[in-house]
Amino acid sequence: MSQRPAIGHIGVFTSGGDSPGMNAALRAVARAAAYRGLRCTGIISGFDGLINDRTVPLGPREVSNIIQRGGTMLRSARSEAFRTKEGRAQAAAMLRRNGIDALVAIGGDGTFTGARLLFQEHGTRIIGLPGTIDNDLSGTDRTIGFDTAVNTAVEAIDKLRDTAASHDRLFFVEVMGRDSGFIGLACAIAAGAEYVMLPEVRQPIDELVAALSNAKQSKSSSIVVVAEGDEEGGAIAIARKVKERLPQYDMRVTVLGHLQRGGSPTVLDRVMASRLGAASVDHLLQGAHDAMLGEVSGQVRLTPFAQAIGVRKDLPADLLALLPVLAT
Ligand code: F6P
Repeated sequence: MSQRPAIGHIGVFTSGGDSPGMNAALRAVARAAAYRGLRCTGIISGFDGLINDRTVPLGPREVSNIIQRGGTMLRSARSEAFRTKEGRAQAAAMLRRNGIDALVAIGGDGTFTGARLLFQEHGTRIIGLPGTIDNDLSGTDRTIGFDTAVNTAVEAIDKLRDTAASHDRLFFVEVMGRDSGFIGLACAIAAGAEYVMLPEVRQPIDELVAALSNAKQSKSSSIVVVAEGDEEGGAIAIARKVKERLPQYDMRVTVLGHLQRGGSPTVLDRVMASRLGAASVDHLLQGAHDAMLGEVSGQVRLTPFAQAIGVRKDLPADLLALLPVLAT
């Protein structure tokens, strides 16, 4: 079996939906690489940049003054071209041309699916960092950006509660999470919502209507948090269905949307991104690849990509059970 070349040059990119803390992770990768005597190159716009050979040198000074910034300085994309074998072959050729020995990919399940294919088809050594607000990856207690996103959403819901209480209104607030309810559940608990609708949990509209009618006996206003991927529909669709059954209620709908993805990362996200970013360089040097680095009980943990994206992370059952207790 041929010996793999030693790692002297690493590439790093962000891919999929951006998340607050991606910049902090890029900074840590670039600085740790410099500290270990490696060259570091940033790849622009995720897999598209690999295919189209769009790069920037990422030395320690290039990542100054970004730890506090939301978004990603390298930009991000969901690449259609990379879904094809030809696209992935172009990406592998680009890495060979540029002498890039290994990659750090910062993103979510789509990013790691692509990273796996690049490893399987071309042997590219890649370590992933969990960069998504959705918190839907196994092998990490939280993903980079989740804490900032839920703090942003809760701040907004607190404001909606002020106006809901002033007008005795029922508010439906839609938060992100196409396939996963981690954002919805955390927001519902932290904002003291009366009810939450989540993609993972089957909740017929009748149950929601019963809970709201019940709440009305002791409260004049209510907040229902809806994860965008709920099977009954988003907040607008659900509010319409509830209105048909409770026409006397004064209702409003707010869709928080992409504002949850922006903003300066919280301390939790910055620290996790810094720790994992630096650890990714060390793990590559130690021979790890085809795996994601996460944080479990405060410790850095390596989880194969197949498991990080293939094993469903369950919602915390105790928090699910807690919501109706606290909404009493
Ligand atoms: O995966 C992160 C996420 O923000 C999801 O919560 C959301 O459903 C999706 O991205 C939105 O994607 P886009 O920015 O492409 O509309």
